[in-house]
Amino acid sequence: MKKIVILISGRGSNMECLIQACREQGWDAQIAAVIANRPDAAGLEIAQSHQIPVQVVTSKGFETREAFEAELSKVIDCYAPDLVVLAGFMRILTAPFVEHYLGRMVNIHPSLLPSFPGLATHQKALTEGVKVHGATVHYVTPELDHGPIIMQGVVPVLPQDNEQSLAERVLAMEHRIYPAALQAILQGQVWFETNKAGHAPAFKACLGLESS
Ligand code: GRF
Repeated sequence: MKKIVILISGRGSNMECLIQACREQGWDAQIAAVIANRPDAAGLEIAQSHQIPVQVVTSKGFETREAFEAELSKVIDCYAPDLVVLAGFMRILTAPFVEHYLGRMVNIHPSLLPSFPGLATHQKALTEGVKVHGATVHYVTPELDHGPIIMQGVVPVLPQDNEQSLAERVLAMEHRIYPAALQAILQGQVWFETNKAGHAPAFKACLGLESS
C-alpha cells in the first residue's frame, strides 16, 4: 500500500476531498499524515476528525529557509511517503528541497497553467478577460508553478462573475481533479518524466465545461 503525506497551510478543503476519496474509492494507499506549517491551519482539525495523524512544523525559530526545510523533510521522511501532496501549502520551496521529492511531489494550482502562476489567480483571470479558467495538478519542480502538468479542469468565466464566484467554481473543479489525478498516479496511468508528465493513452487529462 502506497503512503501519502499531505502538506497544508489553511482551510484544507482539497485535503479533505483527498482523505474522503482515498477511503471511499478504496485507493491502494493510505494518507499517512497531514503536516501544516501553521498551528492555526483549520485543516488540522478536519484531518484529526478523520483520524489522520497531524504534525505542525512552523518556520518560527529557524534562521534560514534551508533550516526550516531540513526539519520539514525530517518530519515528512519519517512516514516514507511515496507521494507528497501540496494542498494549499503556502511556502516557496528551495530547489534542494524540491529535488529531494522530484517526481513524487505534486501540487494543485488555481489556474490553467502556464497562465497565472503565483497568487491572486482569479483576480488576474477577471482582469485579463479570459473566457475559461480552471485548475491544474502538476508535479513540483524548482520553478514555481511550472512543473509537468498531470491534469487540468476547465470552468467557464461568466459575465457576472466576481472573484468570489469564480473562486468557488474553480474550487469545486479542484475537488474533482485532485482526487482523480492522484488516483491516476497511484494506478500508474501518469508518471513523471523530466520535462513533462507521461500519460497512459486512455488517461483523461482534462475535465470541465460539461458541468457548466
Ligand atoms: C486552493 O485553491 C489551491 O488550489 C491553492 O490553495 C487553495 C487551498 O485551498 N493552492 P484548501 O486549503 O484546499 O481549501
